[in-house]
Amino acid sequence: MKKYNYNSGPAILPETVLEQAAQAVIDFNGLGLSILEIGHRTEWFINVLEEASSLVKELLQLDDSFEVLFLQGGATTQFMQVPMNLLGESDTASYCDNGIWGSKAIKEAKLFGNVHIACSSKDRGHAYIPRELTVPQHSKYLHFTSNNTVEGSQWHFIPEANVPLVADMSSDIFSRELPFDKFSLIYAGAQKNAGAAGVTIVIVKKDILGKIGRAIPSILDYRNHIEAKSLLNTPPVFSIYVSMLTMRWIKQEGGLTEMERRAQQRSNILYETLDTLNVFEGKVDKQDRSLMNATFTAKTPELEKLFLEECNANGMVGVKGHRTVGGLRVSMYNAMPVSTVEVFCDLLKTFDRKHS
Ligand SMILES: Cc1ncc(COP(=O)(O)O)c(C=O)c1O
Repeated sequence: MKKYNYNSGPAILPETVLEQAAQAVIDFNGLGLSILEIGHRTEWFINVLEEASSLVKELLQLDDSFEVLFLQGGATTQFMQVPMNLLGESDTASYCDNGIWGSKAIKEAKLFGNVHIACSSKDRGHAYIPRELTVPQHSKYLHFTSNNTVEGSQWHFIPEANVPLVADMSSDIFSRELPFDKFSLIYAGAQKNAGAAGVTIVIVKKDILGKIGRAIPSILDYRNHIEAKSLLNTPPVFSIYVSMLTMRWIKQEGGLTEMERRAQQRSNILYETLDTLNVFEGKVDKQDRSLMNATFTAKTPELEKLFLEECNANGMVGVKGHRTVGGLRVSMYNAMPVSTVEVFCDLLKTFDRKHS
């Protein structure tokens, strides 16, 4: 029986993408070769890479001042690659400290230059997005995590700053419309809304590069990847192909306008249900709740455990909160049908009635 998938990442993907990817593993485009067998410098794969790159730009409405890269090492590698490329030893970068992933990015940036904390939500366990930021004008950039996958909070506005904006959009890229051209660098691991694990999408405005004196190892220098068009070394061919299929699907379904409408619909259903219950409670301030990852707790650890057992018995996977914060979490990425949220809400209500 197919499971209801609430995983935070790797996560649910559109059925049609899975079918096309499966077919391509057997025979890619009728070539008599698997996608796993073709060379990365063949015309076949270069077509995939070019389509993937132009779909990123089309979906995010970006012009040619931006470059799209498909890299390896996950978003975690970007935590160090960003400051290595943008932050000189005596420079300062501002960082928003709003969750576990942002904190990890801060830790890495400190290895390369000075870090100024523009805002922090640590005082309340990252249960909100701060409204007040301090960003020194000499900051090389301001970094923030647009959606805090673990804590379940999301920036519903773009932080004001007169310095280049850098965002980790790993868990909400392609889920909503934003003025993406206001950013200088965006990165995202693909394994939530943008495909399978193994590739990281990096979108960078060329004019912020080349401004520091540091020697950068070739494989970590964005300029080399730009010049080589993401073919500096063997790229994750299959993961890039799955990302391309996922972006095609997003476009066919109506683009980011439609993805955002669906995300609003799914999360409204979930949060409205949650707010009527006695046993469960949302963890994040209402106005800052994530449309992608809803985090909540049950009244006691025993009830939480019992609820997870019920989820398991009903074929619902991925509901346990991140190991560092505990509690419960439901992730609702682009590919999730509304019915999957409704089924979960039915279980929440039944459980609540039984244990109130
Ligand atoms: C917002 C965010 N940033 C970074 C990461 C780390 O990504 P990776 O495992 O691809 O390095 C994650 C993983 O879930 C994430 O949600």
